[in-house]
Amino acid sequence: MSKMKDAASFISSKLNQQKPSLGLILGSGLGVLAEEIENPIAIPYEEIPHFPKSTVAGHKGQLVVGSLEGQQVIAMQGRFHYYEGYTMEQVTFPVRVMKALGVSQLIVTNAAGGINESFQPGDLMLIQDHINMMGDNPLIGPNEEEMGPRFPDMSEAYNKKLIKHAEACADKLQLSVQKGVYVGNPGPTYETGAEIRMLRTLGGDAVGMSTVPEVIVANHAGLKVLGISCISNMAAGILDQPLSHEEVIETTEQVRQHFLSFVKEIVGTLPE
Ligand code: 6GU
Repeated sequence: MSKMKDAASFISSKLNQQKPSLGLILGSGLGVLAEEIENPIAIPYEEIPHFPKSTVAGHKGQLVVGSLEGQQVIAMQGRFHYYEGYTMEQVTFPVRVMKALGVSQLIVTNAAGGINESFQPGDLMLIQDHINMMGDNPLIGPNEEEMGPRFPDMSEAYNKKLIKHAEACADKLQLSVQKGVYVGNPGPTYETGAEIRMLRTLGGDAVGMSTVPEVIVANHAGLKVLGISCISNMAAGILDQPLSHEEVIETTEQVRQHFLSFVKEIVGTLPE
């Protein structure tokens, strides 16, 4: 609690009275959205008290605060992944800090593999729900009652009204977007073909290595969440080709324009 307040007051001290109400977590290859933020104030993670220390060389992570389509936003350009060795608490610490800064809605994005065979690389998917396969949960341990309940409800982990709003934005832009269930796996390996068949049977449509921890903590904190996956590749066993991180990056670069206009439309016309 006090760590979170330290971080939040440090960030506040860097801002000119801005009060971001919308948080954005930008996934692999999707960080470009932060470049669209006007009058940006960028704060490198390493400067923020108690933020996890980045272990990966050349990994640039920062918060960018400013205005996007008329809304005050705080964006994470780069996130902390569980597979990097961060604890669940570290992975989700930025969400706690956003809450402390007054954020009430959160848009979480990621690159994910398609499990649903009707998907194609380059599709955008609105996350309707998730399945936590990470084998861990960021809320394990003593519950801090002032942050949220011991047993949080997850029946609307992804806000229905925000999903409807995003669908209306897609219609307006004549973008076709998919909807489905995101499976969070720990990684860092991609799945085997057998694992993907299992996840399809269990009801998964897309799979990735992030998002689930942040969304759990966001729900605990009472934030409304919208989740968007960029389907960067098909998961194992669907196409007759191996998976590579390069493909993930290439595809997200190709859908970048669609992704940018979609999120900007959503943000610019966001309901309360
Ligand atoms: Cl196929 N699996 C996982 N776990 N994460 C991914 C992915 C697949 N494609 C992009 N990210």
